[in-house]
Amino acid sequence: MNTRNNPLNMPALGFGTLIPDAATTINATRYALEAGFRHFDCAERYRNESEVGMALQAAIAAGTVTREELFITTKLWNTNHRPERVEAAFNASLTRLQLDYLDLYLIHTPFAFQPGDEQDPRDENGNVIYDNGVSLVDTWKVMERLVDEGKCRAIGLSDVNLAQVAEIYKSARIKPAVVQVEAHPYLPETELLEFCKEKGIVFLAFAPLGHGIRPGLLENPVITAIAAGTGKTAAQVLLAWALQRGTALLTTPKTAERARENFDISPLPEDAMDKINAIEIRQRYNQVVKTGSPGFIPQGFFDAKN
Ligand SMILES: NC(=O)c1ccc[n+]([C@@H]2O[C@H](COP(=O)([O-])OP(=O)(O)OC[C@H]3O[C@@H](n4cnc5c(N)ncnc54)[C@H](OP(=O)(O)O)[C@@H]3O)[C@@H](O)[C@H]2O)c1
Repeated sequence: MNTRNNPLNMPALGFGTLIPDAATTINATRYALEAGFRHFDCAERYRNESEVGMALQAAIAAGTVTREELFITTKLWNTNHRPERVEAAFNASLTRLQLDYLDLYLIHTPFAFQPGDEQDPRDENGNVIYDNGVSLVDTWKVMERLVDEGKCRAIGLSDVNLAQVAEIYKSARIKPAVVQVEAHPYLPETELLEFCKEKGIVFLAFAPLGHGIRPGLLENPVITAIAAGTGKTAAQVLLAWALQRGTALLTTPKTAERARENFDISPLPEDAMDKINAIEIRQRYNQVVKTGSPGFIPQGFFDAKN
């Protein structure tokens, strides 16, 4: 099911590199390559582009993969939205990744933060310092220039809602090729998915396993029953659901065994798709769309507050 069935030639099954420590990043990236992943999702915010770059370059040098077979994405962080900062941020990512072009460059979130080297600028009360002096459209225009210059093949958005995608789509000279957002059976984002399908934009789901948070999707009885009935694991069922509904996805296995498990995805019977689509629980795990600052909200948090 790992098709490249989109105008970008992007493998639908992607490996995400949001991994906190350097050694784990190198090993997990290597295991992902060995399992067959060819799509790698990075970000300057993850502070591990150098380690991902090392693992990718080692595989290229060993002859196990060519640069052309790889699809590599990274993202512009919130502190670099000012037009004069975009190209330098892009080049710095490229250097850390040891690449001379990117397949995809995303604006990580629609929130501009105070420009500077501090990735998480806060005031004395601990509140994020936003930058009201730049719009998403201003930043997008410079992203377009990177495509013009041949430095990246495509550009896109992340952590945006439908209205924000529609605004950029309307004004853009080079249309967003990809929209990366949280999506899983508890947050299907159907309206955004329909918009993307209509406009030929790849919908790229992150947190397809609900960030692996337990209790959560991996223990949902509908998912575990389908897993038992099809001889798959709960993770494989969730990943298959995402691919089968026409999204691409990012997952972050850290061991070699899980990399093989998460790459070995086969179609689900239609009635299993129907049962998953009928799940009524709604839960967003990552609040980044509301603030620009990534963070998990534990399940039940809102219930406990009410
Ligand atoms: N645009 C954004 O703002 C944004 C935000 C978040 C993530 N992302 C991207 O999306 C990628 C995907 O991250 P995610 O956290 O959303 O991925 P995910 O695959 O939904 O969750 C990863 C978690 O699931 C666990 N896991 C992985 N494979 C498993 C399996 N086969 N069985 C059971 N548990 C399993 C892992 O646990 P262990 O830790 O035990 O291995 C890990 O904690 C990130 O790496 C990043 O590239 C983007």
